[in-house]
Amino acid sequence: MRVVSGIQPTGDLHLGNLLGAILRWVRMQDEAECLFFLADLHALTVDVDPTQLRANVREMAAALIASGIDPAKSILFAHSAVPAHAELAWVLECTARMGWLNRMTQFKDKSGKNKEGASVGLFAYPVLQAADILLYRATHVPVGEDQKQHVELARDIAVKFNTDFDNELFVPPEPFIGGGSAARVMSLRDGSAKMSKSDPSDMSRINLTDSDDVIAQKIRKAKTDPKPIPGDPALLDGRPEAKNLAGIFAAVSGESVEQVLARFEGQGFGAFKPALADALIAMLSPIRARLIALREDPAAIDAHLAAGAAQAAKLAAPTIAAAYRAVGLTHASNA
Ligand code: TYM
Repeated sequence: MRVVSGIQPTGDLHLGNLLGAILRWVRMQDEAECLFFLADLHALTVDVDPTQLRANVREMAAALIASGIDPAKSILFAHSAVPAHAELAWVLECTARMGWLNRMTQFKDKSGKNKEGASVGLFAYPVLQAADILLYRATHVPVGEDQKQHVELARDIAVKFNTDFDNELFVPPEPFIGGGSAARVMSLRDGSAKMSKSDPSDMSRINLTDSDDVIAQKIRKAKTDPKPIPGDPALLDGRPEAKNLAGIFAAVSGESVEQVLARFEGQGFGAFKPALADALIAMLSPIRARLIALREDPAAIDAHLAAGAAQAAKLAAPTIAAAYRAVGLTHASNA
């Protein structure tokens, strides 16, 4: 079992990232060989502020460590530090088909009405993501629901490459989506939109760096409906905001949605929201305190990333060499 996953170093870590991915990465560290990376090459696909990007990579690495990713257990690195990611992405761009990428919903969402003005990188980035995964022959890719389509694309690319070049080089990966309510954490302002860094309203998400007061305020102001809390989760259908808050509560307290609802059945959100805010603060404030401490020593963060990159590069070398040889690029210096 080899686990590989990444996160874009854009801004802050939010509750969706934590519940949908990072806290599951933390749990998997004791069960498998794990590689986790800051997908800084992916961050180039939209407008780039070089100073900000440099700072964000370090900040996100610190946030992952504060959340429980242990560089002594897992290989933690920035994927730009391992050139084989970009090299394999090119080879696989020649395997992937335009039609496959045309179906990627995230490109449609992110490019909006301005497809002609989107970068080529934004269109092609799911192939870089496939390279990130296939380079390490990952078996499990823990991600939130929104990344499922990209991991399935990586499977298709792996199978086509293996078939085209008559080998077994790539392992078709499994998307490993968290069970239950955490796989898709929704906006606090709109239960039909996912919680996201790109939402212009900061009130739509809980950030790892939010103070206890801000967390309480965001939950107090979270959109709900006037109906009482039901005992049966099926009765949350058609009530997306209520369903989202119940799901978040369950994920944070480690209970099932049924158990959470049983405690609040018949009550309004006036009782539920303060309890949810308390549970969130109990989870997030120790992580935030560790993050603040880690920021004091940026050299230590850089050292973890450099050591991780060296380990990752060693694991990647045989795969990129075999991929080059498979397609006939035997003049490549690392083939
Ligand atoms: P990114 O940076 O958008 O998100 C990082 C992880 O957080 C999950 N996530 C969520 N889960 C539940 N609810 C939400 N509202 C929510 N928002 C984000 C994402 O599913 C993801 O697991 N392309 C990837 C990064 C990447 C990658 C990879 C992932 C690059 N290469 C290889 C896996 C394997 C991305 O933009 O994730």
